[in-house]
Amino acid sequence: MLVLDRVVKTYPKGSRRITALAPIDLTVRAGEFVAVEGPSGSGKTTCLLIAGGLLDPDSGKVLLDGHDLHAMTRNQLAAFRSQNIGFVFQQYHLIPYLSVLENILAPEAARGRANGQARGRELAGQFGLDHRLDHTPAELSCGEKQRTALARALLFRPKILLADEITGNLDHVNAQIVLGYLREYVKTGGSVLLVTHDREIASQADRVEYLPDPRELETPR
Ligand SMILES: Nc1ncnc2c1ncn2[C@@H]1O[C@H](COP(=O)(O)OP(=O)(O)OP(=O)(O)O)[C@@H](O)[C@H]1O
Ligand SMILES: [Mg+2]
Repeated sequence: MLVLDRVVKTYPKGSRRITALAPIDLTVRAGEFVAVEGPSGSGKTTCLLIAGGLLDPDSGKVLLDGHDLHAMTRNQLAAFRSQNIGFVFQQYHLIPYLSVLENILAPEAARGRANGQARGRELAGQFGLDHRLDHTPAELSCGEKQRTALARALLFRPKILLADEITGNLDHVNAQIVLGYLREYVKTGGSVLLVTHDREIASQADRVEYLPDPRELETPR
């Protein structure tokens, strides 16, 4: 179970502080698909980065199965993340000189073991990438990049998948394939936290949490 407990993030800007993420409490249980919906700039990416231990909050705690992510050393966190958390970035972050299949299998190298081939190919097939396995990211459409990043994040069946606007570049059919897969994933006990500005996408989750419009939070100069 993932718990965000009063998590806040601000950045200094001149004499002011920008609120990137207003205080948020959030729980995602095992087997649950939760969406966080909010307009552009409301802190969705910030929230996900903090939930995945990739960015430190100003205050508040992030617990995954009782483990405080931000209390771990860098090495402990890297190991914990690779065992438990799958992350799909809004900007994909694929490795440009690796093929689609090699990108999907990249977490294997980080773990120093090679047993993901069959699962990597299976995921590529499920996400309609089997005809692009030897293409590099530069030779892919945005939607294909998105699906490659998703397959990579799911390679080792993470306890929780953190997904940033993963349907943003997909057509309706492919978006439904991906959402259908996520719903199946939670049925097998995994958890999904998806952030999106898209109400229709968010409505397909088990539960939706809302982030306020940041313009309503800014203090005037
Ligand atoms: N490094 C930073 N320094 C200063 N401000 C930042 C920084 N990163 C993010 N912000 C601000 O924090 C707010 C939230 O950013 P974030 O990227 O989390 O929004 P978002 O909801 O993911 O938006 P989008 O839907 O456009 O992806 C924005 O107003 C942004 O300008
Ligand atoms: Mg974002």
